[in-house]
Amino acid sequence: MNGKSICLIKKTGKVKNLDEELYKKDFLDLDEEMCTHFGLAHTRWATHGEPSALNSHPHRSDNNNEFVVIHNGIITNYKELKAYLITKGYEFESETDTEVIPKLIKYVYDNREDDSISFSTLVERVIQQLEGAFALVFKSRHYPGEAVSARRGSPLLIGVRSEHELSTEHIPVQYKGALLKEDIKEKNDHNRQESNINSVGDGRAVEYYFASDASAIIEHTNKVLYLEDDDIALVRGGQLSIHRMNRQAGEDPVRAIQTLKMELQQIMKGNFDSFMQKEIFEQPESVVNTMRGRICFDSNTVILGGLKDHLKEIKRCRRLILIGCGTSFHAAVATRQILEELTELPVMVELASDFLDRNTPVFRDDVSFFISQSGETADTLMALRYCKDRGALTVGITNTVGSSICRVTDCGVHINAGPEIGVASTKAYTSQFVGLIMFGLMMSEDRLSLQKRRLEIIDSLKDLPELIRQVLSLDGKIKTIAEELYQQRSLLVMGRGFNYATCLEGALKIKEITYMHSEGILAGELKHGPLALIDKHMPVIMIIMKDACYSKCQNALQQVTARSGRPIILCCQDDTEVIGDAYRTIELPRTVDCLQGILSVIPLQLLSFHLAVLRGYDVDCPRNLAKSVTVE
Ligand code: M6R
Repeated sequence: MNGKSICLIKKTGKVKNLDEELYKKDFLDLDEEMCTHFGLAHTRWATHGEPSALNSHPHRSDNNNEFVVIHNGIITNYKELKAYLITKGYEFESETDTEVIPKLIKYVYDNREDDSISFSTLVERVIQQLEGAFALVFKSRHYPGEAVSARRGSPLLIGVRSEHELSTEHIPVQYKGALLKEDIKEKNDHNRQESNINSVGDGRAVEYYFASDASAIIEHTNKVLYLEDDDIALVRGGQLSIHRMNRQAGEDPVRAIQTLKMELQQIMKGNFDSFMQKEIFEQPESVVNTMRGRICFDSNTVILGGLKDHLKEIKRCRRLILIGCGTSFHAAVATRQILEELTELPVMVELASDFLDRNTPVFRDDVSFFISQSGETADTLMALRYCKDRGALTVGITNTVGSSICRVTDCGVHINAGPEIGVASTKAYTSQFVGLIMFGLMMSEDRLSLQKRRLEIIDSLKDLPELIRQVLSLDGKIKTIAEELYQQRSLLVMGRGFNYATCLEGALKIKEITYMHSEGILAGELKHGPLALIDKHMPVIMIIMKDACYSKCQNALQQVTARSGRPIILCCQDDTEVIGDAYRTIELPRTVDCLQGILSVIPLQLLSFHLAVLRGYDVDCPRNLAKSVTVE
């Protein structure tokens, strides 16, 4: 199962009216004595079994719902666990991996050594048996007024809400062995009293929200604490405590409550029909937010606060390795050439999954970058751990403060694009692009021979928001092109040099939300195969900008028109030479070569959006895909 889970526990008062659309099932329990309300719900993308009522969460231990569980992640040893539990007489009702978890906790409960066993101890024992990735929330009728959650590999945060100031913003971690006896439990109860979160106002009303992503709870609170792998969080009698099995050297002994800067309005659609459309149109502002406080256009200096203490070490490194998945990988492809030029270092770009499959050699004097909007992508996170284990310096380029990649990397850059809700990544891409360019500028600040180039790029960054606005004003024209194309089955996107990444990213956007076949093709490879696809029926988009590859791209254009191809060309304004050979053109303002990819990708974001709308699809929630891919 892969998705977002949320659970709400409220010490007093009424349960919040959670957005109905988000939830497949909603379980509420009310313990009159404790006056504790509890809701448990989940949005689900299937990893095992089709999306159906039976496969939806919560999953349960038995017909009496003795234990219920929601899960984000994947249990890789579920087959073995299921086979074992079947031999013990358990009957499964879904096709999911998750269902082994409630069955397993019931099994552990039914075989408990004595009746004093706590709910969190049961969970502790269960997660020791699980392999894979999980964020879990448990509820049981044997433990009224309690809820337990745990994570490993999948994100999990706890939102804390109170009408008044909280009595503490630091929750101490409590350590205990696997076999928690009543005496240890009592001792911990004592500790717990000291770490209680209370509202200073009335000492009572505190609400806890467990979620995979802050955007799920920001409507209710901006105070959150992030759980670490193998943390177990217990809410009992309205009090939160955090437990771990064993203490490791260097481990943070507290979990701090942080205040998120995210605003509710940032995760609303406003006047737009979809989040994707809103996020495309936010790009003039989101790139400014990425640069804000980092580039001084008066002194032409660039300072990335998160990297400045590591700059010397980075300058001494053997090579840079840029690692990501999907769109984040494309941001690496887009900036590779300019980073090679500005850093004078070898730059490798790697898809995280392939990087891991190859057991790629990594050395202590490598610097590895992990690019991720969510900061939670499982493959990227695993590649990060792989590089860290080999002693490389690890740098995060993320959009999500507090995410796993932020926390595990040695240093990094927040791209500050604001929450991206649409599954198709748009503004995060252009901000990752700008973030990586700023890194190159910072690295080259003292290189005399590169000053002219640096100034040209910095000047162009200043004008970038206005140029993005000009590109966005082409929306009407792009919609008309979409109306001509939306019934096609296939769409090729061709280009090279600084605009090759735009081809990959444009094709990804098209296939992801329109379900049309689309391929990003390096124009230099045309004669090595793709040319065979060209005829008058095959829609082709070509990106031909006035840069070092211009004449090579014109050459490719001739190859296409000679085979009766009818190219839609993204070109520079007033490029009469190219316009004459085009079936349709989208004319873009010109900027420095290495930033042109930011302007050339936007028409393809818009095109994919209009194609998807015309084809009748939900642009924000494409089939089979999740916003955060927290499973391998
Ligand atoms: O959160 P991340 O940037 O690590 O996500 C990586 C990819 O899953 C993501 O970019 C995906 O390719 C996008 N949905 C494409 O629009």
